[in-house]
Amino acid sequence: DLSGVDVRAEIERLRKERNAVILAHYYQKPEIQDLADYVGDSLELSRKAAATDADVIAFCGVKFMADTAKILSPEKIVVLPDLEAGCSLEDSCPPEKFKAFREAHPDHIALTYINCSTEVKALSDIIVTSSSAETILQQIPKDQKIIFGPDRHLGGYLSRKFNREMLLWPGVCIVHEAFSETELLKLKAQHPGAPIAAHPECPPHIIDHSDYIGSTSGILKFAQEFEGDTLIVATEPHIIHQMEKALPGKTFIGAPGADGNCACNICPYMALNTMEKLYLALRDLQPRVEIEESVRVAAKKSLDRMLEMAS
Ligand code: 13P
Ligand code: SF4
Repeated sequence: DLSGVDVRAEIERLRKERNAVILAHYYQKPEIQDLADYVGDSLELSRKAAATDADVIAFCGVKFMADTAKILSPEKIVVLPDLEAGCSLEDSCPPEKFKAFREAHPDHIALTYINCSTEVKALSDIIVTSSSAETILQQIPKDQKIIFGPDRHLGGYLSRKFNREMLLWPGVCIVHEAFSETELLKLKAQHPGAPIAAHPECPPHIIDHSDYIGSTSGILKFAQEFEGDTLIVATEPHIIHQMEKALPGKTFIGAPGADGNCACNICPYMALNTMEKLYLALRDLQPRVEIEESVRVAAKKSLDRMLEMAS
């Protein structure tokens, strides 16, 4: 029972006492984003995790992100407020099936989205995030065959944009999959001229209506630069918090799901993290992320290639 506890003050006290850094993804609740030391996209948070001199990393994001922090900084204690914070893309790609897929295509390299398990990273050649995928893909020789997993929408988007055939793993993000084309077009008609910014995890029927397509940090940059007063945002709606803080005079509308509003597009995994669980994680240094060393070393290879190639 935390009723007598000033959770915010305790988090402040414990982060100093533990020499902890709090990293948060843009899809976290506003109160968590506001107290984090760094808020960022998947690539930026990986870089912070690799470079920090803190003793403890409190990762407010999902499990594959906290795992990535541990892979890159194994000597640190990495805590995730709720270990159940998974990802539908990671769930879509069991390592043994991915291994069989690779073995069936021995002349292909595996270019793999960071939204996957450590075991799948260990079975991959190069990891990408949505902000680094385009730069990295362009460095791979044209005649090199590629398997891309686990997000078929990001893979399909890259494949179309760069006219490169890739074998796609059939995973999807349940959040971006839930946007409704019909409702998006209705919203667009209500706001003539308002651009749409979309994450490449969206399916093609959303991407095709979008004026900008990019990672969370890319979408935020677009929000800083677009002309006009209203932007339609086709990604997890908690990112709008950063836009409203930076640009209080403008209007940001989350793209709708089939019910006509954006609440159904909240990531249920990201939402498991709360201030109370963050406080308990800093207090108890639990739940901790642990990774078996041989898998970690293999996964680090493909992550290091990403960090080198993303420049
Ligand atoms: P980025 O922040 O790297 O764009 O990733 C989005 C995402 O879906 C994280 O789960
Ligand atoms: Fe996974 Fe989608 Fe949630 Fe990101 S938003 S953690 S890709 S389910």
